[in-house]
Amino acid sequence: MSSVLLLGGTGYIGCSVLVSLRAKYPALAITALVRNPAHVHAIRATGASVVEGSLNDAQLVEEQVYAHDVVINAADSEDVKLTEAILRAARRRSDEGKKKSVFIHTSGVGLFMDGSREGKFDEGGKVWNDAKEDDIKSISSPMMHAEVDIAILQAGEEGYVNTYIICPAGVVGPPRGPFQVGSFFTRNIVQFCIAMKQPTYVGEGTNEVDIVDLDDTVDLYSAHIGPRAQDREATHERSIVIADLENPPIMLFVVAASARVVADRPKDLGWKARPVNLEDYVKADLDIILQ
Ligand SMILES: NC(=O)c1ccc[n+]([C@@H]2O[C@H](COP(=O)([O-])OP(=O)(O)OC[C@H]3O[C@@H](n4cnc5c(N)ncnc54)[C@H](OP(=O)(O)O)[C@@H]3O)[C@@H](O)[C@H]2O)c1
Repeated sequence: MSSVLLLGGTGYIGCSVLVSLRAKYPALAITALVRNPAHVHAIRATGASVVEGSLNDAQLVEEQVYAHDVVINAADSEDVKLTEAILRAARRRSDEGKKKSVFIHTSGVGLFMDGSREGKFDEGGKVWNDAKEDDIKSISSPMMHAEVDIAILQAGEEGYVNTYIICPAGVVGPPRGPFQVGSFFTRNIVQFCIAMKQPTYVGEGTNEVDIVDLDDTVDLYSAHIGPRAQDREATHERSIVIADLENPPIMLFVVAASARVVADRPKDLGWKARPVNLEDYVKADLDIILQ
């Protein structure tokens, strides 16, 4: 089986990915790049190997990506330099005739935000569908995360690396694994409310962003890693998978824009998002975040 390098394995999504991969594919060799020495023991206890260091160390990242068949970035959807380092190493592997790298990147539905600053849902606004080639081709700057995602899409088209971009909606649900860490999404909302000194929404507050369960999100990573995926040559498809909850969307009152997305591609993998009620998670998430 392939070897996997995991970036962000101590984070909310990344640690859950780690625990899920260990449970589903015990023979899979996983290495996590960890920057905080205090986290090393807990990561090793999951059965993963650890390389200590920072994602800012491009040389280390390149060495590690080069040494593994699969790299998962669950750390940072905005880091252009990190992405370039990953792609350089993948290209070198390809140039030297090694097995083609698989690069699973975490973006986010922020990519598809409509840019509204008025907190108003636009009935006629664009609905993005990850199965529509034209939608993916029209991803462009200054869409959020676009600089990184376009570089990855281009690399996939060039064909030296198999790329998968997972675009989670706001992820909610209890973290799996040793770290009690809250979702980036919920943390941002809480920080926003603390900054405003009260729960706040923008304008009429009808803008909409979907949420998705953490376990469902994590399933998309393992679906791209399992034995079936290893046999698949994903070459130049524009690989974006949107994790969303289609029905009903949750009103988010703390940001002004909407992101309207349809996740058709994950359905090819047999993926289905379970219904999520934000209220079921809020208290537990808040307790973790406020700690
Ligand atoms: N959570 C969501 O709802 C959501 C939705 C859409 C997209 N995303 C994207 O998914 C990614 C992960 O989200 P998350 O909620 O799991 O975030 P998170 O809990 O903050 O996890 C970030 C991870 O990256 C690691 N990291 C960050 N900078 C690093 C560096 N310089 N060197 C080494 N490790 C570094 C962190 O390590 P430490 O433990 O040492 O801090 C942690 O393991 C983010 O890019 C986010 O934008 C998240």
